[in-house]
Amino acid sequence: MNQIPLRQARRTLQIQVLRHNPVDPASEPHLQAFEVEEADAMTLFIALNEIREQQDPSLQFDFVCRAGICGSCGMIINGRPGLACRTLTRDLPERITLAPLPAFRLIGDLSVDTGTWMRGMSERLETWIHSEGLERVDIDTMEQVMEPELAEQIYELERCIECGCCVAACGTAQMREDFVGAVGLNQITRFRLDPRDERTDAEFYELVGNESGVFGCMTLLGCEDFCPKDLPLATQIAFLRRRMASTA
Ligand code: SF4
Ligand code: F3S
Ligand code: FES
Repeated sequence: MNQIPLRQARRTLQIQVLRHNPVDPASEPHLQAFEVEEADAMTLFIALNEIREQQDPSLQFDFVCRAGICGSCGMIINGRPGLACRTLTRDLPERITLAPLPAFRLIGDLSVDTGTWMRGMSERLETWIHSEGLERVDIDTMEQVMEPELAEQIYELERCIECGCCVAACGTAQMREDFVGAVGLNQITRFRLDPRDERTDAEFYELVGNESGVFGCMTLLGCEDFCPKDLPLATQIAFLRRRMASTA
């Protein structure tokens, strides 16, 4: 006879949040503890929302999509970068500590400004298609046929949601403000693969063939370990480095 599984006792989660308001001169960074009754399929987003609705409306954190698409809910979860909306509390111990992603400007509590960092990186690396044809906005040129395998390869790299977890997980990015991170190097690979981009290898390498690019990477691998989209970041960086060495 089949046994009915015993229902596990509900846990009371102890959630500690690193709180700080950088625009308030009286604010000191400190951990604040909250208790939340765990529910089935509870994500950290749900837990934080419950805290904000029922315990402390001043708690700051970012969410838009709640589906791992917008990249806005990155934070440090028990010492590791991750997306709060994709993290189930049942995969975590009862005591959870949350902190904002490092390397980005702190807005308050768990909310950071990844947008300014990403925009700066994007402008420095000119992460858009460089093509005289495209500048004329000719729809026939824009609709060039592309081999499906190549389109797949480009699509794979475009799955990046600019969440910043790879930057937060990278020792180099913590030490060098100008390091473009795995996210930047991923973008360079994406545009280099794109046949519509007329930049030469030498032009691409001029952008990242330096200490703020591939030569700043110390192969620490945190980027790949914590990318929530499982992008093969370290593999691509190694590939870029090899290409550069062979064309130098
Ligand atoms: Fe996030 Fe991965 Fe993109 Fe880095 S490469 S920003 S970890 S999705
Ligand atoms: Fe950083 Fe990833 Fe390189 S963690 S050092 S960019 S392999
Ligand atoms: Fe959009 Fe988490 S809320 S990725």
